[in-house]
Amino acid sequence: MSKNKWWKREVAYQIYPKSFYDSNNDGIGDINGITRKLDYLSDLGVTLLWICPIFKSPMDDNGYDISDYYDIAPEFGTLEDLDNLINEAKKKNIKIILDLVINHTSDEHEWFQEALKNPESKYRDYYIFKRGKKDVPPTNWRGHFGGSVWEKVEGEKDKDGNEMYYLHLFSKKQPDLNWENPEVRKELYKIVNFWLTKGIAGFRVDAINSIKKDQRYLDLPVDGEDGLAFNIKYTLNQPGIEEFLDELRNETFKKYDCVTVAETPLLEYERYDKFIGENGFFSMIFDFNYAEIDMKDDGAYFNRNDFTVKELREKIFDSQLIIQKYGWGAPFLENHDSPRSIDKYFGDNINDEDAVTISKLLGNLFFFLQGTPFIYQGQELGINNFKRTSIEDFDDIASKDQYYRALKEGFSSEEALYYVNRRSRDNTRTPFHWDSSENGGFSRAIPWIKMNESYKKVNVEMEIEDKNSVLSHYKKMIELRQKSKYSDCLIYGEFVPLDLKNDEIIAYSRKDNNYELICINNFSSKSQEVDLKDKFSVKEILIANIEDIQIKENRINLKPYQSFVAKVEKL
Ligand code: GLC
Ligand code: CA
Repeated sequence: MSKNKWWKREVAYQIYPKSFYDSNNDGIGDINGITRKLDYLSDLGVTLLWICPIFKSPMDDNGYDISDYYDIAPEFGTLEDLDNLINEAKKKNIKIILDLVINHTSDEHEWFQEALKNPESKYRDYYIFKRGKKDVPPTNWRGHFGGSVWEKVEGEKDKDGNEMYYLHLFSKKQPDLNWENPEVRKELYKIVNFWLTKGIAGFRVDAINSIKKDQRYLDLPVDGEDGLAFNIKYTLNQPGIEEFLDELRNETFKKYDCVTVAETPLLEYERYDKFIGENGFFSMIFDFNYAEIDMKDDGAYFNRNDFTVKELREKIFDSQLIIQKYGWGAPFLENHDSPRSIDKYFGDNINDEDAVTISKLLGNLFFFLQGTPFIYQGQELGINNFKRTSIEDFDDIASKDQYYRALKEGFSSEEALYYVNRRSRDNTRTPFHWDSSENGGFSRAIPWIKMNESYKKVNVEMEIEDKNSVLSHYKKMIELRQKSKYSDCLIYGEFVPLDLKNDEIIAYSRKDNNYELICINNFSSKSQEVDLKDKFSVKEILIANIEDIQIKENRINLKPYQSFVAKVEKL
C-alpha cells in the first residue's frame, strides 16, 4: 500500500462537542472544553480530531441543522475559540477536521427564510419546493426521522386547492438543498473553501450520498402502518450523483492537501472505486455494511437484525477486501448515531468484568484493520449503553420518532422502549466520564442530557492509573500502530482474512515484507480451540486483553472473549 498520503498515518478521534467537556459550567460542552482537554487527547496518542458540527444552529438535530456556515454556535464559543483550539492542537501535533453538512440547512438559515418569505426570490430554487395534489404531499416518502419528507408551506394554495410543500429527508427543520441548481453548488463550495483556508485539515462529510434525488418524484409501495414508504430508493446513492461529487472535489478538496471522510451508507461496493479510488471523490468513506449489522436497511429500531459472528466476520472481510482493492478505509466501532459497541455486538446483559474484556477485544478487532481508525469519545473507556426508563428521558429526535412508530406498529410501550434503548443515538451522546465526582467531572451544572450512571466506575481518573483498564489498552494499541517497529506493517501492510475453521472467531493478518502479524478474537463466552499447525508459529504476543495465552504445538486454547495480536512466522 502506497505511503503517499499523510492521513494514512493518523489515528482519529471523534468529539461530540456538546458532551465532551463544559468549560464554563452551563451544562453544555464547548470548544474551550476541547482545548482544555488536549493534554488528555495527546497523551492517549490520537492525532486527528473530528469535531461534530459547531456552527450556528437552532440545534433541532444537535448542530446538523446549520443556520450560518460562517459562524459558531454561541453555546460552543466563538470563531476566536476555534482558532485558538486549532493553534493549541497544532502545538501537540493534532489536526482538526470539521463536519460538513451540505445536504440540507436549517430552516432558520437566511436562504430558507428568504425562500419562504418570497416565492419569487432566487432562494426558492435553493431548496426543493413542489405542489401536492390538494393536501396530499407530492410523494409518499417517509423521512429518516419519521413522518412525511414533505412539509406544507402555509398560505400557498393554488387556485385549484393544491398545497405547496418543501422536501426534508431529515427533520422538518432541515430542508434539503437543491443540488440541481448550479448557484447553490457554488455557494456551498465557497463555504468549503472558506474553512479549508482557515487551517483545518479537512472534513467529515455528512449525508453526502443523499444530495441527488430522482427527479421524477414518484410514489413508492407503502411499507408501514403510517401509510408511507422509506425514501431511500429515490434519494440515496442515485445515478448521476457522481457528477455532483466530481465537481465538489474539483472545486474544493482537490486544491488542498486535506483529508475527507464521507458518510455514505448503503453505497454499493461496485461504486467504491469512484468514491475512494485513485482519483476518488473522498480520501475515505465510512462503511456501514458491517457497522450497522444489527439493523435492517429500513433503519427501523424495532426491526432488529440478529446476526452471527460468522456473518459479522464475512461482512468485515468483504469490506476490507474491497476497500483494500480500491483505496483506504476508515474503520470504526461507534459514532454519535450508534449505540455503544459492547451492547451492539454482545447484547445488553454483559457484566462489568466481561465488559472490560470485550471492550478490549472489540478494540483489537477494529483498530488493526486496514485504514485510519476512528475512535468515538468514551469508547476508549469502555462505556456501555445507558438504559432509560421513560421516553421522556431521550433528547434525540430520531429516538422519539422510533418509539412512537413502534407503538403504531403494534408494539407495547415496554417493547418500544426496549428497542429505543438498544439503538438510540443518545447512548453515545451522554456526557464524557472524566471522573467519579458529580456529573462525571463533565460540568458543575446539570448536563443538557442525562449522564450514563456508570461514570462512577468507568472514567478517565480511575482508568488512567490502572494498567489493566480499557483506556490503558487503547493507549497500547495506539502506540503499537504509531510508534513500534511494526508500525509500517500495521498501517500499510496487506490485510489477509484468516479462516481458522471456527465460527466464533474473527481472525485476520497484516503483512508486509518484514513482518506478518495476526489478530485473533474469540467472540464466544466459552473457550475455543484453534489450530495454527499448518499455517503459522506464534513468535511474540504484542497485545492481548487477557495476558495468559495457552499455546501448545501451535494449538491455541482461547479463553472466553480472549483476543490478541501476535507476530508469527509462516510454516
Ligand atoms: C448524518 C449525521 C446525523 C444527522 C444526519 C442529518 O447521518 O451523522 O447525526 O442526524 O446526518 O444531518
Ligand atoms: Ca459550556
